[in-house]
Amino acid sequence: MSQTIERPAWLMSGDFMAADDPFALLAAWLEEATQSEPVDPNAMAVATVDADGLPNVRMVLLKDFDRRGLVFYTNTDSQKGRELDSNPKAALVFYWKSLARQVRLRGSAEKVEDAEADAYFATRPRLAQIGAWASKQSSALESRHAFEKAVALYTAKFNIGTIPRPANWTGYRIVPLVIEFWCARPFRLHDRLEFRRGGPAAPWTKALLYP
Ligand SMILES: Cc1cc2nc3c(=O)[nH]c(=O)nc-3n(C[C@H](O)[C@H](O)[C@H](O)COP(=O)(O)O)c2cc1C
Repeated sequence: MSQTIERPAWLMSGDFMAADDPFALLAAWLEEATQSEPVDPNAMAVATVDADGLPNVRMVLLKDFDRRGLVFYTNTDSQKGRELDSNPKAALVFYWKSLARQVRLRGSAEKVEDAEADAYFATRPRLAQIGAWASKQSSALESRHAFEKAVALYTAKFNIGTIPRPANWTGYRIVPLVIEFWCARPFRLHDRLEFRRGGPAAPWTKALLYP
């Protein structure tokens, strides 16, 4: 795909290469993406592997991010949920076209505490809460009608009052051990900055990588 739109000079800034705290840098890039990205700046691909070692990847939305890791929410019986339960490791990637930036992360996956998942579930729109009950995510669906019927049934069941979080719907926190920042530079002489650590409490070491 050819790129005909000239990129502003500030997109090409190499300033981030001086960073020594990958979480602070990721927070700054997420904040900039929130300003510049037209849709879902928090969208990220999450890769898992199945029992045969075959990789699997799909988009999810980042819903929480702090020094413990990056959290997304899903159905634990989904394909990704089952893959994470049997092999709790994952890779993530963000790509912000408006910034010509990519961030890759690799690490372990753990479920968030029930109270944390309950608190997030409570913030979701009511219909999204009903959808979490009605969708047997990643299972075969005989028809769209069957899904709409399930939505109608749960709408009636939870007619009034608070909707509890389904037991098979929660958050996974990816605790990164590797975080790589990539930024486009002219003539594909891009910048890459990689941080690695031996464990969640270990210090980060930093390296530049050839593009
Ligand atoms: C932009 C975008 C955001 C998405 N966010 C989520 C999410 O936060 N959680 C989720 O379970 N699925 C999300 N999905 C749907 C997943 O990509 C995927 O279709 C679904 O989770 C089933 O994946 P699985 O069969 O590998 O488990 C999103 C899809 C897109 C395109």
